[in-house]
Amino acid sequence: MVEVHVGDCRAVMPALPASSVDCCITDPPYGDTSLDWDRICVGWVSHVSRVLKPAASIWVFGSMRFLAPLFDEMQAEGFRYSQDIVWEKQNGTGFHNDRFRRVHEHAVMFYRGQWREVFHETQFTMDARAKVVLAKRSPAHTGHIEKTPYVSVDGGPRMMRSVLAVRNEHGRAVHPTQKPVELLAHLIRYSCPPGGVVLDPFAGSGSTGLAARQNGRRAILIEEHPERAETMRQRLAQDAPLLQGTAA
Ligand SMILES: C[S@@+](CC[C@H](N)C(=O)[O-])C[C@H]1O[C@@H](n2cnc3c(N)ncnc32)[C@H](O)[C@@H]1O
Repeated sequence: MVEVHVGDCRAVMPALPASSVDCCITDPPYGDTSLDWDRICVGWVSHVSRVLKPAASIWVFGSMRFLAPLFDEMQAEGFRYSQDIVWEKQNGTGFHNDRFRRVHEHAVMFYRGQWREVFHETQFTMDARAKVVLAKRSPAHTGHIEKTPYVSVDGGPRMMRSVLAVRNEHGRAVHPTQKPVELLAHLIRYSCPPGGVVLDPFAGSGSTGLAARQNGRRAILIEEHPERAETMRQRLAQDAPLLQGTAA
């Protein structure tokens, strides 16, 4: 269910079949830090475009500085902006004492094709607070309608909001910028049909693969750094055996 490739995604993706992937969810290097791997990768979008099905979506995590120029590249490949979400963390990183305390990240969804043909399944959460309403009741025997006291009712499931508060995986993380599996699971369930294939060309710790597998989707993960790829394999193997594994 999870396929792991080791190598530069721009060299790996040409070997993947065209129009075979249902959606791409990825978190490329933003080029915002001095970390050795944090170098902006140019030209990956055209490779993703080739392997995606004609009507499909791409979710990209990133800082504003990274995402702003990406809009032009996406447009050049025929993708349109659809929506964005904010991941609210319980604590952040890289604080500056003269700025707002940064505890969030963005992910932007682009799509191509007719929106009705692009898989998207509205996500719901349970109602956080029961509603209080004034109810009119007719006692069974008399038929006489009377107002009863306020009653509390469960409003039922609510459409998931665009700000997702999910705890980050500090402490148990195996990658410096590891995304929580739970966060990715919401995006996967929204954008990839059950049994479909999710592609993550910048897979890091493999959170996308775990979230896909736990939700009955398949995943193709690509990671350039051999040691990180090995750590990812081990993480995936601990959760459940890899059914397929390749090395590019
Ligand atoms: C921001 S991290 C992804 C973290 C991931 N979302 C997670 O939850 O662990 C980006 C990853 O992309 C990898 N990377 C950078 N350039 C790459 C390339 N050209 N091809 C494949 N992987 C690359 C880096 O080694 C790094 O692990």
